[in-house]
Amino acid sequence: MAGSKSKQNSETDVHRVTTSDDIEVATYLEIAKEMGGEQPVAAREAVPGAEREAIVVIDFGSQYSLLIARRIRECQVYCELVSYDTPWEKIAPLKPKGFILSGGPASVYRPGAPLAPAYVYESHLPVMGICYGMQVLTKQLGGQVSPGVKQEYGHAILHLSGLDSPLFAGMEDSSPVWMSHGDRIEDMPPGFVALASTENSPVAVMGSDNRIFGLQFHPEVAHTPQGKTILKNFAYNICGCRGNWTIGNFINDSIARTKKLVGSGKLINALSGGVDSAVVATLIHRAVGDQLTCIYVNNGLLRREEVERTFKVFKENLGMQIVYVDASERFLDRLKGVIDPEVKRKVIGEEFIEVFEEEANKIGRVDFLAQGTLYPDVIESAASGSTASAKIKTHHNVGGLPAKMRLQLIEPLRSLFKDEVRQVGLELGMPEEMVWRQPFPGPGLAIRIIGEVTKEKLELLRSADFIVMNEIKKAKLYRPLWQTFAVLTDVKSVGVMGDYRTYGYIVALRAVTSEDAMTADWARLPYDLLARISNRIVNEVPGVNRVVYDITSKPPSTIEWE
Ligand code: XMP
Repeated sequence: MAGSKSKQNSETDVHRVTTSDDIEVATYLEIAKEMGGEQPVAAREAVPGAEREAIVVIDFGSQYSLLIARRIRECQVYCELVSYDTPWEKIAPLKPKGFILSGGPASVYRPGAPLAPAYVYESHLPVMGICYGMQVLTKQLGGQVSPGVKQEYGHAILHLSGLDSPLFAGMEDSSPVWMSHGDRIEDMPPGFVALASTENSPVAVMGSDNRIFGLQFHPEVAHTPQGKTILKNFAYNICGCRGNWTIGNFINDSIARTKKLVGSGKLINALSGGVDSAVVATLIHRAVGDQLTCIYVNNGLLRREEVERTFKVFKENLGMQIVYVDASERFLDRLKGVIDPEVKRKVIGEEFIEVFEEEANKIGRVDFLAQGTLYPDVIESAASGSTASAKIKTHHNVGGLPAKMRLQLIEPLRSLFKDEVRQVGLELGMPEEMVWRQPFPGPGLAIRIIGEVTKEKLELLRSADFIVMNEIKKAKLYRPLWQTFAVLTDVKSVGVMGDYRTYGYIVALRAVTSEDAMTADWARLPYDLLARISNRIVNEVPGVNRVVYDITSKPPSTIEWE
């Protein structure tokens, strides 16, 4: 561990490290600031790097809605998703240049079906309705929607008739598209013409005045290969966007805004070693330098070499002010005898808040807490809102801290997707090792040890995990896979080693692919790689005599075992 030790007490071992690095303060940043509850980004200041143009997706609840926003952003146009009942005042700060009406599970001809707010039409801005969104605008503009004779799901071939429409610039006359709808357009609203058809949908695309369009298929999904061209054409040719949503712009704006918002205030953040908190810290450090203090709590549940590596990056590479707290003993004490996964999470979460608060109090006056909330988290919590969605697991993060400590929250990444966060990290000059780190849960190895967490089991799991990481990296699979790790089960089995009977633990290997952790598939790892990992674990980790591979996807499983 690098750094000078300046304070010790019986429970925690604290290193305070101050940097002399004078990182040049760049010129940007947006801060999502708030105390407590969730608020759409649009309700606050305009988003960094997006003042000049934005497209707003009006969400009717399609499983693909977030994907639309993502695709538009891939075209360098800022895009946000808002619920269909969002008032104009919350959208106005975004200065939208066009609207997209998403798909959704409802049927427009049923009573109470959600419709687009009046401002979508009254603004005279371009509008594109996708699937249900097309049916919404058909109904609201005076056309007729009816239940389709035949439901249409899956692939269809789109034939363009309106070849000169700027929406189709650069497209083939016919191309595959992905359909998922029951209802269809019976009569187009006045002024609309059909621009494309499929076998089952005579009006697969309709348009009016080169300004309002309806698409019966989903351009945002990968199964519609030319879909991104359509979305880009809408953003550029129809809405007149120029593509100023770049990571460079985002960084510059964010830094400027952070400086303005923070002034001479003091910030803290909880470093976890993960990419989100790391990027937040780096971005804010760029803006306000040593006004930021990072608190890095070692809960004793981290992986081998993790503390050293994280510390090295932040102190040596990035020159930040870090308070390192070794609270391993405290956490392990509290975990004694705890077996229930939810209790483990609760205990770890509470202990974390306690340790963090103690350390923050030692720093003196603090005004802000910086946090690595991402856009999917914002959407997810807004969507789950007050509805009683079933709790699967209590995720441990620094939730609860801001209110308790009366700190103002700064969440500069809350408008970004994970891949955008990584790009910000790379552009800020963070080491690739940190930027491409696989996610690691807040409760750490505790939720990868089934049953009681002990020092011995932690050591055993660390050794197994180290081998997994080492082999996965050697096989160049670390980045393509979402997560790879070992789980220490509480099951022992009989084995034989060198003519002797053994009775040892079973280690499970988990490797998954995923886009966002909401769903995941087990990775089809090569047999040779599985064999190497298994051999090494049983040979190099005493106490383990069997390795199994987890071949369940999420759902029905979850990624972690607890
Ligand atoms: P599950 O197990 O719910 O995990 O499929 C989904 C993703 O979240 C990570 N995870 C957590 N991350 N605190 C975190 O910061 C937590 O308490 C937590 N629990 C699970 C998990 O590693 C996976 O990437």
